[in-house]
Amino acid sequence: MQIIQSRKELRQGIKNARSDGKTIGFVPTMGFLHRGHLSLMRRARKENDLVVASIFVNPTQFGPNEDLEAYPRDAQRDIDLMTAESVDIAFFPTVEALYPEGYTTFVDVEGPMTQVLCGQSRPTHFRGVTTIVAKLFNMVAPDRAYFGQKDAQQVAVIRRMAADLDFDLSIVVCPIVRETDGLAMSSRNTYLTPEQRENAPQLNKALIMSREMVEKGERSGPAVRKAIESRINGVNGAVIDYVAVVNAESLAELQTLEGKVLIALAVKFGTTRLIDNVQIDVRDQLA
Ligand code: PAJ
Repeated sequence: MQIIQSRKELRQGIKNARSDGKTIGFVPTMGFLHRGHLSLMRRARKENDLVVASIFVNPTQFGPNEDLEAYPRDAQRDIDLMTAESVDIAFFPTVEALYPEGYTTFVDVEGPMTQVLCGQSRPTHFRGVTTIVAKLFNMVAPDRAYFGQKDAQQVAVIRRMAADLDFDLSIVVCPIVRETDGLAMSSRNTYLTPEQRENAPQLNKALIMSREMVEKGERSGPAVRKAIESRINGVNGAVIDYVAVVNAESLAELQTLEGKVLIALAVKFGTTRLIDNVQIDVRDQLA
């Protein structure tokens, strides 16, 4: 595995692969890798000749009172894990290289899509995500880019950005990887106290319950939302940020469930904010 810090070196690596006619798969991450990230790299390895993964804790997607400084980092561990997944290029840019003095250009997907759900409590978050992902897409110019369904709103926003800005690549979405007790894997799970960690799988349990409601015929968005809320309100230490029942592509709230439905939530345990979701194709349920 080649470990690259500079954009110039990355450009050369990409150019060489292109001139050899290789296809390029790209996995952007903020590091502190877990099995969720590794599942994306494994999929990219299967589908492409060259696999590039980036590790960059992107300051522009963190709000002023968020965990940028505290965000867990372990470069050596990440290098070992990426080597084991046969990643070809690990890109570790510095903040100074990607946001040099005088940097003023941002990519912003406007409108409700970035203002609802996570956008409500993190108003500048998606602007930071789309800016860094657009920059990385320009640098890596991949054929395929891999993202996790864990961040369902991020997927919808990046799809919109890639379509609007004519990025010539496919976005591949990979399923949520979970701990054995159902908790969605996240670098932020390391912040949880033992007691919070014990209660955190209740988020997934509430989502499973909501899916069962839909499978049994429930079609009211608000009824599903309220059932999840009342279940999570009974979980020790859990404070709901949002529970939302929306169209999976537009993220518009649904009164009546139909088509691709995304049921998503964000819940805080102390200062740690966890997200999880389930996607249901309601047409399937009618068959
Ligand atoms: P990060 O949180 O490190 O996640 C990197 C990728 O791994 C994202 O596509 C995310 O959805 C995926 N991922 C995280 N946990 C997962 C899980 N349990 N199962 C499956 N996939 C999972 O998301 C970001 O970084 C950043 O916003 C980024 C896109 C890198 C831009 O800075």
